[in-house]
Amino acid sequence: MLQAVDMCAERLRDPFGREVTSLRVSVTDRCNLVCFYCRPKSFVPCSRSELFTLEEIARVAEVAAALGIGKIRLTGGEPLLRSGVVGLVERVARIPGIDDLALSSNGALLGGLAAPLAAAGLRRVNVSLDTLRPERLRAISGSGELDRILDGIAAARRAGLRPIKLNTVVIRGVNDDEIGDIARFAASHGAQARFIEYMPVGADPLWRDRHVARAEIVARLGRLLADDPPRCGADPATYYRLRDGSGEVGIISPISCGFCSLCNRLRLTADGRLRPCLTSDGEIDLRTPLRAGARDAEIADLFRRAVAAKPERSRYVEAPARPMIAIGG
Ligand code: 5AD
Repeated sequence: MLQAVDMCAERLRDPFGREVTSLRVSVTDRCNLVCFYCRPKSFVPCSRSELFTLEEIARVAEVAAALGIGKIRLTGGEPLLRSGVVGLVERVARIPGIDDLALSSNGALLGGLAAPLAAAGLRRVNVSLDTLRPERLRAISGSGELDRILDGIAAARRAGLRPIKLNTVVIRGVNDDEIGDIARFAASHGAQARFIEYMPVGADPLWRDRHVARAEIVARLGRLLADDPPRCGADPATYYRLRDGSGEVGIISPISCGFCSLCNRLRLTADGRLRPCLTSDGEIDLRTPLRAGARDAEIADLFRRAVAAKPERSRYVEAPARPMIAIGG
């Protein structure tokens, strides 16, 4: 504990003055879906021995909390595929200083897990929902069953997870005609739609043609939106009020209006590397030192190195070395 107090004396601040208070933890790089925008066909998940153990994840979360990181989001791959994920939630939720514990999921396994996750201390959930049409879901994700995902969203609601955010990656010619339907669906199911600009993190050769910028998403929402100006949230989304008073929709536009100046996050990959930015491959290996017996203070130093390596802004390249599924969305 003394060690933790010492570490806390110095919060994490990057060279551009941004305080780092959030960690996205990929608990597996496996997924039960094969969405083309996230996972290239050639992707091979890491081996069992490369995968960070739940014990290692929990230990890193403790060090992160002692350094002033108060928010943890579990992600993947599909985090609910990781056996022991409920126990991990329970453990992370108990770490002093962690006051926001969230999860990003494709929803397919949420039906059975939402209640145990909420009981374990999970606060809220983001569920990917790219379409409301079963045949499109199959085209996008390979095998997704829409009913199971919708059941998962309903189970999250019953379990009291709040807010429920529904993430839609907007892709021209694929689902860009469903923006209004998804916004209405979310509002009528106690959830919030968030439209995400398509990023080139899945090695899609058609990315450039398929990207839809925020202005066009707003235009497509059209009369569904109230006239008042959008509001910026604490997260990267810009929020627009729905005209009928049923809620808000968020738009996340990393490409057309970058939000790097607000960036407060680090990422931990499933194979135990700290990644300073979604687009920076300069990762810092935690697994080797941890397995060699590193003390908490040494792990804390690696966090400081990762924070010092945060670039001022993200740089998207069309063929990234690691796709989204490997980084943790
Ligand atoms: N562009 C934008 N968002 C993406 N995600 C995965 N791949 C991409 C991409 N290429 C999203 C997922 C999920 C979130 C965590 O990241 O849809 O909702």
